[in-house]
Amino acid sequence: MSESFYLDWNNSIPILNKAYESDLFVIIIGPKGTGKTSLVRDFVRSKGAKLDSINFSLRTRESHLVGSKTLTNGTVSFDEGLLVKSMREGSMLYLDEVNSAEADVLLRLDEALDDRRQIVLKESTGELIKAKENWFVIATINPLSHSGTKELPPQLLSRFPVRISLEYPPEDIELEIIKKYVSGNHESELVQGIKLANILRQAAAVEELFYSPSLRETIAFGKLLDKETSTKEAATIVFGNVYTQWGNIEHQKVRDIITSMFGS
Ligand SMILES: Nc1ncnc2c1ncn2[C@@H]1O[C@H](COP(=O)(O)OP(=O)(O)OP(=O)(O)O)[C@@H](O)[C@H]1O
Ligand SMILES: [Mg+2]
Repeated sequence: MSESFYLDWNNSIPILNKAYESDLFVIIIGPKGTGKTSLVRDFVRSKGAKLDSINFSLRTRESHLVGSKTLTNGTVSFDEGLLVKSMREGSMLYLDEVNSAEADVLLRLDEALDDRRQIVLKESTGELIKAKENWFVIATINPLSHSGTKELPPQLLSRFPVRISLEYPPEDIELEIIKKYVSGNHESELVQGIKLANILRQAAAVEELFYSPSLRETIAFGKLLDKETSTKEAATIVFGNVYTQWGNIEHQKVRDIITSMFGS
């Protein structure tokens, strides 16, 4: 990816810069595939900083964050986790989908993220780790409707006083973003694909459909058009077929929309 690949359409980079200069941690909230990770990467690159990422899931344990004891050749040592390493180095720490983790794991984050920016290695020597200056943390959460996500405990949420909301972009901007990835020879077809994606997103938002396509899908649609796939076929492959997961009625609803837009 080139330097300015990320299109900062809702002015998030200036907010990230102000937060960074004021030592205020940031949380980015938005559905899947709206550019959260790309935004963070672009910002970290612009600062010339090192990026450490933790992708949270139900299986994330405290030991991933803080570390764990290991036994090699009869000697016990402590393998520091990414949170501790990042605090020591003063890197940028990206906590991705932090609301998919179990509450007890998050408790340990509270400690590190409060205003003192320090953590006690009670699992090891009891050493007090103080974060290096410039240590910075950016987290993302998916909206609560996203499966597997839970509400972030309020005290943890309060550690991220700067909040950026990243939704699906307006149609003209989504077109501009897609054109960064595809030839742009199919402008009117791309516009139609984005329209379709937004119809499906709106239907998913009111729970008429189970799935909401992201920018990944509209980009994929454009890439298939570049490979001489017909518009209808690309729409079926990228936007239609996924709904068979939820049965024939769901699939048929979307097939009808695709046929009405792209012909039979
Ligand atoms: N503003 C943008 N400028 C350039 N590319 C973008 C932009 N927004 C999204 N994209 C592209 O859309 C795709 C999805 O973006 P990304 O992975 O950053 O989303 P995300 O919000 O982190 O998704 P998830 O919640 O699933 O992790 C990527 O290919 C990304 O490069
Ligand atoms: Mg992401």
